[in-house]
Amino acid sequence: MLSILIAAPLLLLSRSPTPVLGATVSSTPAQTFLGIGGSGAWWPHDLFNFPDAVRQNLSTLLFSQSGLGLSSYRFNVGGGGVGVINPVRAPETFYVSAGVYNFSADPEGVFFMQQAGAHGVTITAFVNSAPAALTSNHANCGGTFVNGALCILSKSGTCH
Ligand SMILES: *[C@@H]1O[C@H](CO)[C@@H](O)[C@H](O)[C@H]1NC(C)=O
Ligand SMILES: *[C@@H]1O[C@H](CO)[C@@H](O)[C@H](O)[C@H]1NC(C)=O
Repeated sequence: MLSILIAAPLLLLSRSPTPVLGATVSSTPAQTFLGIGGSGAWWPHDLFNFPDAVRQNLSTLLFSQSGLGLSSYRFNVGGGGVGVINPVRAPETFYVSAGVYNFSADPEGVFFMQQAGAHGVTITAFVNSAPAALTSNHANCGGTFVNGALCILSKSGTCH
C-alpha cells in the first residue's frame, strides 16, 4: 500500500496573498491510497486501431515503472451498444445468454486490460450498461433492468 500525505494544495494556499485559515500540514499520513489509476472506459476502442507496436508502447507508457507506473486500472465490461449512437461508447458484451459468454468479444478492451495485468496492475471491472437482453427495452440505454435479470454468478458461470 502507498501512503501519501496531501501537502501540495495546502502549500499553495499558504502562499495565497489572502490569509487562509484552518489548514494544517501534518507529518502524519492522513489518507491511504490503494493505487493511482486510469480508466479504460472508451479510449481502448480508439487506440486499438493503431499498429500493435504503438499499442505496446502506449501500454508501457501507462503501466510500467519507466512510464506513468499506474497501479490501478478500470476495465469497462461492455454492454454491447444496442441503441448507442457513438460507436466508441459501445464496447461489445461478453454476454451471449445465461451462463454462456464469448470472451473473444471486445478485443480492444481485453487487450489493454491484459496489458495492465501483465504489468501487475490491479484491475477493477465496471459496467455502464447491462447487456440488452437484460433490459426492459432490449437496448443499452433508456431502459431498466428487467425483474430477475440480476443474479450472483457462481465460479462455474451458473446464475443464482
Ligand atoms: C516504441 O518505443 C520504442 C522505445 O521508446 C521506440 O524505439 C519505438 O520507435 C516505438 N515504436 C513505435 C511504433 O512508436
Ligand atoms: C465472439 O465474438 C467475436 C468478436 O466479436 C466474434 O467474431 C465471434 O464470432 C463470437 N463467437 C461466438 C461464438 O459468438
